[in-house]
Amino acid sequence: MGARIIGTGSYLPPKCLTNADLERMVDTSDQWIVRRTGIRSRYHLAEGQDPAIMGIEAGKNALNQAMVSPEQVDLLIVASNFPDMICPGSAPFIAAGLGLDHAPFFDLKAGCSGFVYGLAIADGLISSGLFHHLLLVGTEALSRVTDWSDRKTCVLFGDGAGAVLLEPAPPGEGVLSSALYGDHDKALLLHLPAGGTRRPASHKTVEAKEHYLKMEGAGVYRSAVPMMEQATREVLASASLRLVDVDWLIPHQANIRIIDSLIQHLDFSREQVIINLDRVANTSTASIPIALDEALRSGRIARGDLVVLTAFGAGATYGAVVLRA
Ligand code: UT7
Repeated sequence: MGARIIGTGSYLPPKCLTNADLERMVDTSDQWIVRRTGIRSRYHLAEGQDPAIMGIEAGKNALNQAMVSPEQVDLLIVASNFPDMICPGSAPFIAAGLGLDHAPFFDLKAGCSGFVYGLAIADGLISSGLFHHLLLVGTEALSRVTDWSDRKTCVLFGDGAGAVLLEPAPPGEGVLSSALYGDHDKALLLHLPAGGTRRPASHKTVEAKEHYLKMEGAGVYRSAVPMMEQATREVLASASLRLVDVDWLIPHQANIRIIDSLIQHLDFSREQVIINLDRVANTSTASIPIALDEALRSGRIARGDLVVLTAFGAGATYGAVVLRA
């Protein structure tokens, strides 16, 4: 037995920030952002709105589509790097909003690969027989940890959430194989220096802007393509599948140049790739489940299609999952 997805959902907050809006905030241009990243707009939580709202809405959509009630869910996993609170995370707030009164829940932190890691873990937990209906949410409020005076990062990120509801599946359906990796030598390519236990919050850390995301963009860029290429090739090999068997690739939505280079290495065409970063930007752990939900709901990905999900992110983590939709 493995796990299959029986419902998907996503949520983007209503406030849309275009490149033209950013031109008024930092020294940048629509032309630079589009040429270097492919991003044209992103969505942001309104001030004062709780980030958990996004996971709750995405989770509700997944439950409704699967026609599964909150009482039937027996585990909630929330993949997020910037939870509502460092302790207790986001999972309890999302569980409360969804009315999951009897299900255990926990947060999973694995960089932008959090959803791919979560799906692999969910598949293992369902296969073991421990859980039947498992809700996996990827949610991120990156606008809350972005330095709005840093043009190198503020143009890249958006907020949003995606969710999938999983149940046991016969062999050959749903998740077919997973491949997860980590490269701890690259731990600081993308990080938030203060506010953890190594460097607790203080006036000094706030003044030094250490509660904002710091990124070594070029280093992340250089690692991303080989990581996702390796993960894609290995996940297919482990399922005795070939690149030509793949109907759809859903890569982490970080940068169109990274995606184009990846598909060139894998010999895929752009038509086989789900891309929404032009509209929603990089939403970290939420990027793959949002793209998956949109592609399934629009009918672009059909039930039974062979889909590879692949991501890289802070840590550095990377991985891939191959599934029958
Ligand atoms: O989920 C994972 C998260 N992160 C990523 O995936 C990021 C991966 N990295 C990237 O996508 C790219 O490295 C960036 C888009 C962040 C940057 O693109 P780049 O081609 O690597 O540019 P760069 O950092 O080498 O900067 C080139 C120039 C610099 O100016 P100088 O020093 O050559 O005068 C930057 O200051 O572009 C400048 N620049 C900008 N100019 C206008 C950097 N950001 C901007 C900006 N607008 N927003």
